[in-house]
Amino acid sequence: MKVAILGGGQMGINVMGHLRDSPLLSDVTVYDTDAARLEKLRREQGVTTEASLERILDSPDIPLVFITASNDVHKSLAVQALEAGKAVMCEKPMATTLADAEAMVQTAERTGGFLQVGFELRYSHLYRRVKQWLDLGLLGKIKNTQCTYCTSAWGRHNVWRAAAGTSGGMFGEKLSHYVDLVRWWADDQVEEVYAVAAPNVISYYEVHDNYHCTYRFKSGAVSQLTFMMAPAATFQGDPLQNAVSQQAGDGHMLRYMIYGDKGAAETDVFPRTLKRWEFGEDDWGQRSRWVENETWDPDEDFKWFHNTHDQALDIVRRVAEGEPPMTSPRDALETTRLCFAAEISARERRPVRMDELRIEATQ
Ligand SMILES: NC(=O)c1ccc[n+]([C@@H]2O[C@H](COP(=O)([O-])OP(=O)(O)OC[C@H]3O[C@@H](n4cnc5c(N)ncnc54)[C@H](O)[C@@H]3O)[C@@H](O)[C@H]2O)c1
Repeated sequence: MKVAILGGGQMGINVMGHLRDSPLLSDVTVYDTDAARLEKLRREQGVTTEASLERILDSPDIPLVFITASNDVHKSLAVQALEAGKAVMCEKPMATTLADAEAMVQTAERTGGFLQVGFELRYSHLYRRVKQWLDLGLLGKIKNTQCTYCTSAWGRHNVWRAAAGTSGGMFGEKLSHYVDLVRWWADDQVEEVYAVAAPNVISYYEVHDNYHCTYRFKSGAVSQLTFMMAPAATFQGDPLQNAVSQQAGDGHMLRYMIYGDKGAAETDVFPRTLKRWEFGEDDWGQRSRWVENETWDPDEDFKWFHNTHDQALDIVRRVAEGEPPMTSPRDALETTRLCFAAEISARERRPVRMDELRIEATQ
């Protein structure tokens, strides 16, 4: 099977690396609108490149495309590829507007095409363990989750990510992963979102660099996400250490607490910890018992955290075997709606009900 990668930047290069491990692939072709980049990829990555999107879309021996271009072109590339009968993996965020994201989903539904959005944390060993505990009933029903995420700034060269028109908002570009995860764990519908953002620390961003966001599910469960970009040092640690080890203790933080009515769990990326508590009750009152405490090998960080590797291979396998996406496009759209609701809430300084977001797909 042949695969095309549309967008040969950093994420495209990551996917190229992952696809080398797929036994189902014979060839990978990369398309990018930047000719110099294609030339560099040929030289440094040894991949085949193609400067014409039409030739990729017309090629019957390319059944699957990975969209790893910048956010502002996701919708156009996805719709064209689906119309051409290709299976599509599209990086998050789905699009820079909700109407564009809806158009992508409608096209997939009308054509019966395969569309999976890149929420690779659903493949993460760390977060899958929490999902397993929930599915086994070990935590009971989720009541409350808290996520604290602090990370370092993007440099000025990454300007499209932080520009209002091309980013689509920090929530989609960066935080869609972290709310998608909770939606997946809770298996519930978000009803209302309230987000506040302080004036930026990073002067050259047009999007927010911080939020406190609270969202409430239909069940009554409440989740909270606190995000801050900028205070953490950027890769100033020991260059011989991998990225997670370099960033541990330098201001980076990515910790969840998940509370159910039968137990609790904690995931903490930088110290590499995963914990579970069981709740019980006796004459004294309610007590908790610490029952699991795991860690993982630094060499396996890529599997335990942003597991784009297994995601890429799973998508190839699904397409080869005619299976549907791991996450339906409608489900991905719900996460996208949550991101836009948070942006509206922060802008208008009020809680936003999800049913306020009427969507009309763009053509
Ligand atoms: N899932 C994750 O954890 C994760 C991590 C990083 C990036 N991403 C996503 O991957 C995408 C790419 O990010 P990146 O870091 O590689 O950015 P990048 O700036 O390194 O690369 C983007 C590439 O897209 C190309 N491009 C622009 N318009 C195009 C078009 N019309 N057709 C084809 N190529 C086009 C650019 O020339 C550039 O080579 C973004 O959507 C980003 O949000 C996801």
